[in-house]
Amino acid sequence: MHIDIQLIPVTPATISSTSVVVIDILRATSVIVHAISQGALEVIPVPTVEEAFQFAKKFPRGTTLLGGERGSKKIEGFDLGNSPREYFAEKVKGKRIILTTTNGTKAFHSVSSGREVAAGSFFNIGAVGRRCLDLGQDLLIFPSGDEGRFSLEDTVCGGMLIDRILTEGKRLVTLTDASQSAHVLYQRFKENLVESFRLSTHGRGLIERGFEEDLAYCAQVDITNIVPVFREGVIRGHLLPFLSLGSTGVTPVATREGKGEGE
Ligand code: MLT
Repeated sequence: MHIDIQLIPVTPATISSTSVVVIDILRATSVIVHAISQGALEVIPVPTVEEAFQFAKKFPRGTTLLGGERGSKKIEGFDLGNSPREYFAEKVKGKRIILTTTNGTKAFHSVSSGREVAAGSFFNIGAVGRRCLDLGQDLLIFPSGDEGRFSLEDTVCGGMLIDRILTEGKRLVTLTDASQSAHVLYQRFKENLVESFRLSTHGRGLIERGFEEDLAYCAQVDITNIVPVFREGVIRGHLLPFLSLGSTGVTPVATREGKGEGE
């Protein structure tokens, strides 16, 4: 198994036989994983606000919620912003969410030709690692970045995914220089993931805009076994029956796990 990570979010060349994991810790993939673990029917990631409004018209009223951000803030006329703390079962269970964000939702479309495209976050890192190992294909980790730039927190999460796969130890894994670097970066921050968020441009921006609580929230590790998969424009959840990869021992905070988790 060969693991690469796209340190800069540029559409990769040939990935039709490669598994892809999209990561946007602050906060798109954290939102997607959280929403689906809380029972959202599906998430439709769209690049623009206009497309979100157009998509919403296709579905019966009351079945669909509009979510996302621009400049990290909730978009006018939308039901939800882009904090995972808004996506609890009371709000999202049984609903379809049309989501548009600055980086994360676009990233899914950049890698749509991948063999299987999953949403990764700290929330479901063990389940995603297990899924990658079950698939057994070469893996491309795709951090969504920050408007085309390198993103520290997404790369640290990519490094953790690499660590989980290496720890399993039953397979020959080869790493590129980029994935070696992500793994080294993860080792630096593994005892304090929030520290990496606080150093990152986007993490600092979220603090300035009043979303500091989202940093600790998004740093929770292995709070769900859901693996959301992007197929034909829609993200739906798959629930792994167990986690077989080790945890870092980071203690989850403020979880409401168990409320609405489902296939
Ligand atoms: C994004 O997709 O760019 C982010 O999730 C932005 C944010 O939540 O502030």
